[in-house]
Amino acid sequence: MCGIVGYTGRDQAVGYLLEGLSALEYRGYDSAGVEVVGTDGALHGVKCAGRVSVLRERCETANLVGTTGIAHTRWATHGAPTDRNSHPHRDCTGRIAIVHNGIIENFRELRSYLARNGHALASDTDSEVIAHLIEDAWAGPCRGDLVTAVRHAVRRLRGSWAIAVVCADAPGEIVCARNGSPLVVASTPDGAFAASDVTPLAGVTSRVIQLENGQLARLRASGEVTVFDEEGAPVDAPAVMEIDWDASAATLGGYADFMAKEIAEQPEALERLLSGRLGEKGILLDELSMSEKDLADVDLVYLIACGTSYHVGLIARTLIQTWAKVPVICDFASEFNYEQDVLVTPHTLCVVITQSGETADTLTAARRMRGMGCKVFAVTNVLGSTAAREADGVLYVQAGPEVCVASTKAYTAQMVASALLALRLAQAKGEMGRPEVERHYRDLCALPGLIREVISRSWQDKRAAAVFRRAHSALFLGRGVNATTASEGALKLKEISYLHAEAYPAGEMKHGPIALLEPGFPVVAIVPADRVHDKTVSNIQEVIARGAVCVAVATDGDEDVASLVEHVLWIPPVGDELLVPIVAVVHLQMLARYVARTRGCDVDKPRNLAKSVTVE
Ligand code: M6R
Repeated sequence: MCGIVGYTGRDQAVGYLLEGLSALEYRGYDSAGVEVVGTDGALHGVKCAGRVSVLRERCETANLVGTTGIAHTRWATHGAPTDRNSHPHRDCTGRIAIVHNGIIENFRELRSYLARNGHALASDTDSEVIAHLIEDAWAGPCRGDLVTAVRHAVRRLRGSWAIAVVCADAPGEIVCARNGSPLVVASTPDGAFAASDVTPLAGVTSRVIQLENGQLARLRASGEVTVFDEEGAPVDAPAVMEIDWDASAATLGGYADFMAKEIAEQPEALERLLSGRLGEKGILLDELSMSEKDLADVDLVYLIACGTSYHVGLIARTLIQTWAKVPVICDFASEFNYEQDVLVTPHTLCVVITQSGETADTLTAARRMRGMGCKVFAVTNVLGSTAAREADGVLYVQAGPEVCVASTKAYTAQMVASALLALRLAQAKGEMGRPEVERHYRDLCALPGLIREVISRSWQDKRAAAVFRRAHSALFLGRGVNATTASEGALKLKEISYLHAEAYPAGEMKHGPIALLEPGFPVVAIVPADRVHDKTVSNIQEVIARGAVCVAVATDGDEDVASLVEHVLWIPPVGDELLVPIVAVVHLQMLARYVARTRGCDVDKPRNLAKSVTVE
């Protein structure tokens, strides 16, 4: 899960490359590098540990002149994030350079082979072998034909890759190859571009080609882009995608950080997703691409996801089981992929939930499910992502680019998408009549307004954040669907403030976690006005009796909670208690952000994390 970018054209490459890396930095940011084919016919590069801003400073003094180049921002897998392990990597001659996103599984075997054959490898990475394999091919029968040299080299690789290659002896040319890791290329009047995803290209062109697995592309300085299949034959009609995202969506637009901006964007994101979803026949979800009969026949739903998207799955499980009366299994993709016996029926519907659509574990799970004959439906945010392209049906949640590593607007949008799916299934299975469907749709449509109200109360989160200033750990409690809200709140806090947080179903606290409590220990309790409210209030009493400090998320007017707890994060009443998580979590997002800022953390780019986890 690194970001790669390439440019060849009539302009100086470095500006485009650095801008491209900044846009892709969410994919990894522990080191970065750039390489250009200089006007003197040699390669010139700069690479270093640290963020793109560090690379940018180094480039200013390095004065890299050249109109063809490649660049990389890294999330380390093999080898520590050091200058030496940063990409691009060169071959022994120093005339070929590559950038790579993915994992070369047979790199040990290839390193030994290359070492035996006189190659000197300069890094600890798996990626470097690619440069040396291309060197061998170029020195042999493929001299003068970079596409063929790259094709020969990648044949020896096992694993996943998106690569871009430059060669000082092939000026004005970049060759790309893809297997497993995403890669797009584009032809423009100013030249040709390659990138891990569309983000760096959104301001440059509205048409990009998505390379398929096994394909290669040759980019020329004239702007010409040619796609080849794995046999080296030109592809007549490569998959073109129209970018409909506004490039300004990926800018801060006056906010202090992307997390703040993305939290604020939630109401509009949900409005977009919900607009026009109620038709004459009820909920409209044509994206499912399933007949009424096939939908009515669904007898098991498998929800598979990772991280925050897995929490969406847990909420979706309750919604589908409650509304559509269909049994649901929800699993982490990373666990599902290694389960020996997966129970599926002839009418199982698999739903993969993934903001990026590129999470390696989730993609593997989706492929496994398809292999077992299941229909796979993707709920994703990223247009044309691998999950979207491989699924039988896809629902884009339309949250817009999510730049902050911690997911916020995609989380709430994915929950709303799950609610629509639950209603659609309930309708097809005859479990819900028109008035009931309409009532639920009205409740969904009220959510953006309720979230706006919660956002306007951010001062409550700011004040409550003080509770965590000197804490080392925190406990999040909730019941029913809000046990998942607790899990999501704890995950947000952990990932951006580096404060240990554990979530537990409130009623389970007495079976173990209560031992953690001591005076001053912070506990966040989600206690909305719902059927388990009084039970959770009792758990809050238990917390307070042990001197712990409780921050509660409660519904306006709740005197019981107000009289017990010093810090209340108030939410307005929500039409259906199953939808409370979509409103309540917004407080926990804001709370986590304030705690992280109080602790001096970079909320958008937390350490060790990357936005899209494209490795297993
Ligand atoms: O793109 P995906 O939804 O598949 O990503 C899954 C997780 O990696 C992601 O949700 C991760 O947990 C986020 N950093 C959470 O904020």
